[in-house]
Amino acid sequence: MLDVTQNLELDRTFGRTELVDPFGRAISYLRVSVTDRCDFRCVYCMAEDMSFLPKAEVLSLEELDRLCSAFVARGVRKLRLTGGEPLVRRGIMTLVGSLSRHLRAGHLDELTLTTNGSQLAKYAADLKAAGMRRINVSLDTLDPEKFRAITRWGSLNQVLAGIDAAQSAGLKIKINTVALKGVNDDEFPRLIEWAHGRGMDLTLIEVMPLGEIGTGRLDQYLPLSLARARLAERYRLDDIDYRTGGPARYVRVAETGGTLGFITPMTHNFCESCNRVRITCTGTLFMCLGQEDAADLRKPLRASEANDLLFGAIDEAIGRKPKGHDFVIDRRHRRPALSRHMSVTGG
Ligand SMILES: C[S@@+](CC[C@H](N)C(=O)[O-])C[C@H]1O[C@@H](n2cnc3c(N)ncnc32)[C@H](O)[C@@H]1O
Ligand code: SF4
Repeated sequence: MLDVTQNLELDRTFGRTELVDPFGRAISYLRVSVTDRCDFRCVYCMAEDMSFLPKAEVLSLEELDRLCSAFVARGVRKLRLTGGEPLVRRGIMTLVGSLSRHLRAGHLDELTLTTNGSQLAKYAADLKAAGMRRINVSLDTLDPEKFRAITRWGSLNQVLAGIDAAQSAGLKIKINTVALKGVNDDEFPRLIEWAHGRGMDLTLIEVMPLGEIGTGRLDQYLPLSLARARLAERYRLDDIDYRTGGPARYVRVAETGGTLGFITPMTHNFCESCNRVRITCTGTLFMCLGQEDAADLRKPLRASEANDLLFGAIDEAIGRKPKGHDFVIDRRHRRPALSRHMSVTGG
């Protein structure tokens, strides 16, 4: 059991003022990276020889609970656990179980997860029992060899077994597929028909220039405007109004009846409706995925058992949330626009 006695004290402060940034956007969605570690080494996300953080720098499960609860107390209604791979964090189910009290209390609308699926067979039933309703699973190909080449260390069969287990447990699944030029772009119809055939939505994601990964970003980048145009030759894609406040735009594929999303940070500006912030496993708050500016919340968290310092630091940080970002792959130097990896903030 997680000892959250101190955090329960915090729960009694619910109803404090909501977090609203200088541009009037209410912050209702928090994404939390619970570990920087992963059992895969996807080529667009990590270098093969990644070095990971020492344990002392990473927030404990109690600290993660306290930090998440502070945001829930300030109006966050949706919490997504991510990583690295969230399901390889030791004790992850203890954290999920403890955070689920906010669902039961009606302070949180959704507790969810983005996972590579490798550990789902083990955890799916427990996640459902803790109140999760739907999760995102990342899957870029249905070809076992290609899967191994993209993830370097992953096994497609293990992930497919995880997806089976999650569906049997009653979890709704959205598949996230990173579009990689010359790697999986010929597979989109197959992936769409497979996902929709199993009642899962699918979202295509443009590769974002985050972190040194050892291979050229320009070689991987496929503008989704192009992918969409190609898909439109084969399917009828009807725009639908569904929005999540994030960078995704959705269509209904008439032939399958399923929903297809496009996350296009490189070709589309989605900042005006941004309702989210991100926390790393060291307690660093990023107000924008595409900017370097960040606030250290671990210091106030560890400095005092009372939450005044923490709330002060959160307020100060949200007051600096920028209007937007501008991702650019530096064509002259072939460098990423930002040096941190996606596994730091968890997407
Ligand atoms: C960083 S992962 C963390 C959660 C989990 N390990 C997973 O793969 O789902 C979150 C999402 O970010 C995506 N991602 C990682 N690096 C990316 C990049 N450079 N550009 C776009 N998406 C990326 C992954 O495909 C995944 O869907
Ligand atoms: S995308 Fe997810 S599964 Fe792949 S290396 Fe990054 S964190 Fe791990």
